[in-house]
Amino acid sequence: MTRLRMAILISGRGSNMQAILDAAEAPDYPAEPVLVLSNRPEAAGLNLAQRRDVATACVDHRAYGKDRAAFERQMHQVLVPHHVQLIVLAGFMRVLTPWFVDQWAGHIINIHPSLLPKYPGLKTHQRALEAGDDEAGCSVHWVTAGVDEGAVIAQARVPIAAGETAEQLAGKVLLAEHKLYPQAIKHACEAIVAREKAVQL
Ligand code: GRF
Repeated sequence: MTRLRMAILISGRGSNMQAILDAAEAPDYPAEPVLVLSNRPEAAGLNLAQRRDVATACVDHRAYGKDRAAFERQMHQVLVPHHVQLIVLAGFMRVLTPWFVDQWAGHIINIHPSLLPKYPGLKTHQRALEAGDDEAGCSVHWVTAGVDEGAVIAQARVPIAAGETAEQLAGKVLLAEHKLYPQAIKHACEAIVAREKAVQL
């Protein structure tokens, strides 16, 4: 079985990355982690990946000031030699420009802590509580140039309890993310493989 070569992009603690690395240990998992790339050298997830013998790299966005294009060109340069077939954004906190998204179109996915199309952007849990919603959740979606706008691959729902705080809700949703993301990656891999087969017909 061919496994797709997967890069995981992070900015911080990397708990979703860990869940994905755990899942990818199964021999029949359809993606192989070939690189963990961070835009912050201090991201805790980098150490976790190194301890698991996954190659890591850092492109510090702060070194590029406001030049997002230069930052993304450098990330692209780092990704290409690893022959990446799937980019998984896992708590990667930079908005990507249309140029970068275009380079990897159909090969980038993201996890977002809301039931999209509800609450794109930040402070999703607070917004769900303020709206009086009775459920929250997370979505894995294809990345397009519009922030949190691409087609949804999979979602998980969690009930909101009376009196729950945004932090408590975030903790519950995060546990759902850890289950959802490894599963959604399987679907993304199937879609990529099916697409590439179709192109060859
Ligand atoms: C997750 O809640 C994810 O949905 C959001 O950022 C958080 C990342 O957490 N985009 P972690 O770094 O995976 O622990």
